[in-house]
Amino acid sequence: MDVIAHRGASGYLPEHTLPAYALGYGQGAHWIEPDVVLTADDVPIALHDDTLGRTTNVAMHYPDRRRDDGRYYAADFAYAEIARLRVVEPRANRYPHATFRVPRLEDVLQLVHGLNQTTGRNVGVYPELKHPELQPGLADAVLAVLRRYDVPIRLQSFDAHLLAKLDTDHPRVQLVRDATQTEDGGLEQIATYAAGIGVSSFAVTDDATLVARARARGLSVHVFTLRADGERGPASFADELIGLAAQGVDGVFTDHPDQALAVLQALPGCSG
Ligand code: G3P
Ligand code: CA
Repeated sequence: MDVIAHRGASGYLPEHTLPAYALGYGQGAHWIEPDVVLTADDVPIALHDDTLGRTTNVAMHYPDRRRDDGRYYAADFAYAEIARLRVVEPRANRYPHATFRVPRLEDVLQLVHGLNQTTGRNVGVYPELKHPELQPGLADAVLAVLRRYDVPIRLQSFDAHLLAKLDTDHPRVQLVRDATQTEDGGLEQIATYAAGIGVSSFAVTDDATLVARARARGLSVHVFTLRADGERGPASFADELIGLAAQGVDGVFTDHPDQALAVLQALPGCSG
C-alpha cells in the first residue's frame, strides 16, 4: 500500500513546509502531498486554504491586508510577500514554533527530485489543485512547474470538471465528497479520465463493496486522512489502517507516515 505524507509528515512539523515534506520523505513515504494555490503573481505555493490566516502569522505582518470578511487571501499577496511569513501549526499538541516558511510548488519538486537523486529512491509528488473555481490559472501554472522536474506525479482535485479537462499525461485522482460519485455510474464516469479515486476512510468502512467496484472499473482507491494523534488515538489508527489494508485499499494519506509504515510492515505478507 502506498503511504502518502499528507501535507508532509504534518503530525510532527507544520503542514506544507519543506521540513515536513523532507521528514515524510525520510520516514519512508512513497508520495509527498502538497495542496496548491496561486499567489497574486501566479506563483503556485503549497497551502491548504485559500487564505493565510489559519496557518501563518500573516495578521502580524500585514494587518491592513485583510478583506472586508476579515480574511487574508493568498491571491491578494505576491509570493515575495508570502515568503516573509512563518508557518504556524494550528493543531494543539503539535510543533509549537513559527520556524518555517511557505514554499513554492517548485521548491517541493526540487526537494523531492534532489532527494531522489541522493537516495536512489523514486518518491513522487501528489499535488492537489485547491480552490480552482477561484483561480482559473491554477492548473496551467502547476503543469508548467511540473514539466521542469522528472519526478513521479499524480494530480488530485475535488473538482471533476477541472480534472476531466486537464491537458496532461500524469495520472489523475478524483477526490470524492458526493456519495453519488461512488455509485456505479459515478465510478464509470470518473474512469473516463482518472486513474483513481480519493475517498474518506468512512466511505470505505461504510461500504464494503466500494474498493472492489472501483477496481472493477480500473480505478485505484486512496483514503484520507489517517492521524495517529486524532480523536481516536494511535490504537485505532493501527486498527483503521489494518482494516483498510484488508479491504485492498491502494494508498493512505496520513499525517504520520512512519507509524503507518510500521503498522503495514508488521502485516503478514505486506511490504508496506
Ligand atoms: O487530498 C486528500 C486529502 O488531503 C483531502 O483533504 O482537506 O487535507 O486536502 P485535505
Ligand atoms: Ca489535500
